[in-house]
Amino acid sequence: MLGLRRSDFGPGFIFGAATAAYQIEGGQTDGRGPSIWDSFASTPGNVLGGDTGAVACDHYHRWPEDLDLVRDGGFDAYRFSFAWPRLLPDGTGTPNGKGLAFYDRLIDGMLERGIKPFATLYHWDLPSPLQDRGGWANRDVAAWFADYAALVARHFGDRLWGLATINEPWCVAFLSHYLGKHAPGLRDIRATARAMHHVLLAHGTGLAALREAGVKNLGIVLNLEKAEPASAAAEDALAAGLWDGVFNRWFLGGVLKARYPADIVERFGTNLPDRWEDDLELIGRPLDWCGINYYTRALMKHAPEAGALPFARVDGPLETTESGWEIYPEGLLSLLQRVWDEYPRVPLYITENGMADVPGVDDPRRTRFYADHLEAVRQARQAGVDIRGYFAWSLLDNFEWAEGYAKRFGLVEVDFASQKRTPRASYRAFQAMLTDR
Ligand code: FCB
Repeated sequence: MLGLRRSDFGPGFIFGAATAAYQIEGGQTDGRGPSIWDSFASTPGNVLGGDTGAVACDHYHRWPEDLDLVRDGGFDAYRFSFAWPRLLPDGTGTPNGKGLAFYDRLIDGMLERGIKPFATLYHWDLPSPLQDRGGWANRDVAAWFADYAALVARHFGDRLWGLATINEPWCVAFLSHYLGKHAPGLRDIRATARAMHHVLLAHGTGLAALREAGVKNLGIVLNLEKAEPASAAAEDALAAGLWDGVFNRWFLGGVLKARYPADIVERFGTNLPDRWEDDLELIGRPLDWCGINYYTRALMKHAPEAGALPFARVDGPLETTESGWEIYPEGLLSLLQRVWDEYPRVPLYITENGMADVPGVDDPRRTRFYADHLEAVRQARQAGVDIRGYFAWSLLDNFEWAEGYAKRFGLVEVDFASQKRTPRASYRAFQAMLTDR
């Protein structure tokens, strides 16, 4: 049991479960175009076990059963993402009618079940034809994204409860262009610096297109990590500060203050696009809310061999999840407080939080993880932070990016051979809390 009640979070607080298109949908033969995750996953060495999202949870066909699970768990909202290549197979131009029809069914299915549709425009599946033109390193991505946002606004805008532009811009830019761990798998500081700027510029152009079309309740989803030094040495403190800059301050500063942190601007130097300053006004336009994804902390040490960004992550002493991520609910409380105190205030949502656990349906450790992190949210609210909702990651076991199907994050277990769904004890714990009115 979670040991908490709905009423601990005040009236109107929204509980939801989250997923993302590439991780669950499959259904790739309806005219959908290729994405950077298809080719990245099909290249040996990128994804554990050579897994791909070709079938995933077959949510494309099994969505009614999955939405029933959201409803029966007592959740108010479902956070899902649109697949850009399903709607626009070439990335721009002519939409795919079957793709539009799929999201019509899905959104209407939510509304019929009394579930609030909480959508994300971009959860990492860039159409491959746009990667061929430079992807996130090309400034044109901001215009391509705005056109895609306008299409979604036109077709679905009035049925969505909330809409986020980008999921985890740090992953889109840094993890994928500097660390090379996600598609397109680059390791290049110039491409990184450009992607760090263009991903926020696209957020800005997308947001403007959505506002123009009259879509309500708009935000962005940032992943934040508490950065802490691995030792008391001054140079480790500097490493943690730099990581904090690249991971947290760049994105918080961009969207909430229309300003990038000077220390990171200096490190990227001439690799940043010319006249990036001119875009900050658009990037920093007011949001209706800001989403925070929280999983762990970052323990950092100085790494002199690491060039302009001399930091390296070290393993910490705390209990870890099956992903090897330290479990640190205190970090969530302190990050929420910090965002509230140091940045212009907007309503906050926890848009993802959860853990990979051992296989099986009995998952007391996951239930404890949720209980401890929900308690941090409760405390932050009590201290005055305006947090309006919490989404568990994830509804289902799914394609966990470079980890393939090996890491299980679901409240509901998926047997990928039979596609059978089985609710776990953690799902029952949420259900008990959420349906006890
Ligand atoms: C986040 C992603 C999500 C999932 C979780 C575990 O970074 O947004 O898709 O992979 O991590």
